[in-house]
Amino acid sequence: MITQIKHEIANFDALEIIQYVQQKFGSDAVFSTSFGIEDQVITHLMAEAKSKAAIFTLETGRLFPETYYVWNRTLEKYKLPIKTFFPNTEAVEQMVTQKGPSSFYESVENRKECCYIRKIEPLHRAIKGYKIWITGIRSEQSTNREDMESVEWDEANGIIKIHPLFHWTLSQVEQFLKTNGVPYNPLHDKGFPSIGCQPCTRAIQAGEDFRAGRWWWEDKSKKECGLHVTTK
Ligand code: ADX
Ligand code: SF4
Repeated sequence: MITQIKHEIANFDALEIIQYVQQKFGSDAVFSTSFGIEDQVITHLMAEAKSKAAIFTLETGRLFPETYYVWNRTLEKYKLPIKTFFPNTEAVEQMVTQKGPSSFYESVENRKECCYIRKIEPLHRAIKGYKIWITGIRSEQSTNREDMESVEWDEANGIIKIHPLFHWTLSQVEQFLKTNGVPYNPLHDKGFPSIGCQPCTRAIQAGEDFRAGRWWWEDKSKKECGLHVTTK
């Protein structure tokens, strides 16, 4: 299946990939948005393609105010329903009661626990029952992501993953936003190429890796929260 999809989309641009997913999978497709710049391009293309894929976001409870701003602009402009998944209340209450509101700075283990509760468990609920998961991943984002493929089988979640912007450069993404008047997170213009939760994301300096501002205090972890696991 993966090989066949790869073959069929080999010469497609991003819009054609989204149209292809629409034709082949219809409402069995789901797109995850964090309202990052790549996700905004995909939302725009999905509106253009009149895609029937579901769209969801994981509301971790720790997002930047600017993320809520672009979330609102996106709803206003595209009028597409964005299903929202919150973490399990009891799990968050227990973690914060036991360890306080900033346990993620104390150890990689604590950080992974928080990512599991606020992102991974809700992700499992969000993608359940779908056959293909569309994301805004680009290979250029990190060396870890260079090892991924534009279409892949996600063993951990039992779902096909497809990344329509996999080969796009950052400047292509920025150009698309500009040309098409796509709303985007104002933090992007302040040195944030990758935006996650507020306490775990900082701006980067010129020359730094795109993901250097994510979990910046961890130098040995792969700087992934576990949403996108690579087996390589
Ligand atoms: S992360 O793994 O480090 O958090 P990143 O911010 O690079 O991921 O985003 C990569 C892709 O993961 C996005 O294009 C989006 O599809 C998905 N994603 C990341 N965070 C969220 C979120 N909070 N809600 C929904 N999807 C998300
Ligand atoms: Fe928790 Fe930080 Fe992970 Fe967000 S990115 S879920 S705040 S550890």
